[in-house]
Amino acid sequence: MKIRKPIVIANWKLNGGLDLICVSVASFIGKHFNADIAICPPYIYMRDMMTFLQFSELHIGSQNVSRYQSGAYTGETSAQMLKQAGCSLCLIGHSERRAIFGETNEGCNIKVRTVLTHDLLPVLCVGENQQEREANVTEDVLYKQIREGLANINLDGKDLCIAYEPVWAIGTGLAATPTIAQEVHQFIRAQLADMFGHEIANRLRILYGGSVNKINTRELLEQKDVDGLLVGGASLDPGHFLAICQQASELAVS
Ligand code: PGA
Repeated sequence: MKIRKPIVIANWKLNGGLDLICVSVASFIGKHFNADIAICPPYIYMRDMMTFLQFSELHIGSQNVSRYQSGAYTGETSAQMLKQAGCSLCLIGHSERRAIFGETNEGCNIKVRTVLTHDLLPVLCVGENQQEREANVTEDVLYKQIREGLANINLDGKDLCIAYEPVWAIGTGLAATPTIAQEVHQFIRAQLADMFGHEIANRLRILYGGSVNKINTRELLEQKDVDGLLVGGASLDPGHFLAICQQASELAVS
């Protein structure tokens, strides 16, 4: 039995199309989950997905959000627009955004605050790369990402999630072991307790991401501080993603 309601988020990245939307949503219709389930498709498909959602418990998330509200910012999409489109949550600071698009902790902090203002759930992604793990500086990296990413935030009555995604585990097939995931999640929760107090830290959900599949779902989610999963590659196969969500739902109550 999980202390916190599990949350499973699919991150489709720059993949998928109308076919995948139809098949994915269809597989969730009429099913009940004891977990929060969301899919983050490319922006362009959000509205298409929304029209199919009335008969399922799925939520829609975005893979990114603008730090700006409106104005001359070509190519951006604001938190308000996402909210109006029916979006429930936003991924912020995914390692691909950090590495390829130069996102910084300070930029992530602005996005987290913007998203909270619009009553969307921010999911701040953090994680060390291979070199950093080998150099034994994982905790230093996470400390900085969390302290700076969540600076000057008041969480009274608000919710947020952290997604721990070690860069070396993303898309490699080499998921973190349950022991590593638990160790790091415990460290993250300790940081949250230090920043927001124990009560808030105990209710915030910390997700694991990086080569999650239906085989490792159970052992990861069985860890005390692993409250959910962020799933990339495996979420592009609707049957596979459904199997992950069903396990999360079963573990929530068993
Ligand atoms: P993966 O991606 O499951 O394909 O490793 C996870 C992510 O990048 O969010």
